[in-house]
Amino acid sequence: MKKIGVLGTGTMGAGIIQVFAQKGYEVCVRARRDSSIERGLATVSKNLDRLIKKERLTEEQKTEIMGRIHTSTDISIMKECDLIVEAATENMEAKKELFAQLDEICKEDTIIATNTSSLSITEIASATNRPDKVIGMHFFNPVPVMKLVEIIKGIATSDETKEVIVGLTKEIGKTPVEVEEAPGFVVNRVLIPMINEAVGILADGVATKEDIDEAMKLGANHPIGPLALGDLVGLDVCLAIMEVLYNEFGDSKYRPHPLLRKMVRANLLGRKTKEGFYNYN
Ligand code: CAA
Repeated sequence: MKKIGVLGTGTMGAGIIQVFAQKGYEVCVRARRDSSIERGLATVSKNLDRLIKKERLTEEQKTEIMGRIHTSTDISIMKECDLIVEAATENMEAKKELFAQLDEICKEDTIIATNTSSLSITEIASATNRPDKVIGMHFFNPVPVMKLVEIIKGIATSDETKEVIVGLTKEIGKTPVEVEEAPGFVVNRVLIPMINEAVGILADGVATKEDIDEAMKLGANHPIGPLALGDLVGLDVCLAIMEVLYNEFGDSKYRPHPLLRKMVRANLLGRKTKEGFYNYN
């Protein structure tokens, strides 16, 4: 694997671009708008500056890393890639459309992975003529820091594809965990209902947001509290994952809390909109 394609330049996309470029891969990036590409590159640049400040990276190394990132708004930039990681909007129809396009333009042996946090790999793969080469590669936020990648096989994903992705994951310094396809996989099925429950505790007036977070930090040894984590993940993403769990399992225990819904309707999405449960201005 030499050339890695990344679709999407949001929080996850930018992190994935950075990790591959830092490991020496040529990274081809496609986003729909120039402004999204600029935003993605700015995120990577800012993160690398953080490493320079800590004297873990030199200016020269940063220039080299940024030089390995190639961008376009045209999807044909993906043509020569050996692996594509899709980190676009968490919407099944949008993903299927993208995968159908990629299937048409990519080399026969290109593996197409999705960073979906909860959608069915089998359904995404059904939009292609290469379901054996479609796989879930689920990174965690912040991508440069978090060690885990969940590796999810769809019904038709070949063992060969899985082995290649497991090997690549280790090569970029992450730990792969193999997961059967199921709504929310492992981490989000545990983590997101926990955040949803914390929203319920806040809405019930059981404790203040600060105390809920402090309690979980000190009582469960979590690095940040569940409401701060919701802000980090994005409350829209949390809501979308709860909706998938609720719809797929049909179990009321996964009902998104009305306050979570209200926050999203108000565009209070967390860090990315500078306000969620906390203010980031
Ligand atoms: N990008 C790159 N590096 C970052 C970063 C970012 N956005 N944020 C923090 N870091 C780095 C810092 O540079 C620092 O690095 P060093 O220790 O090597 O110097 C390290 O992370 C710790 O950062 P801080 O000391 O500034 O702050 P912290 O101790 O509070 O750690 C944190 C920040 C790593 C984000 C920590 O709070 C944490 O682990 N939070 C939980 C994260 C988590 O649970 N993520 C999973 C979310 S679920 C998900 O992503 C899946 C999904 O599908 C929704």
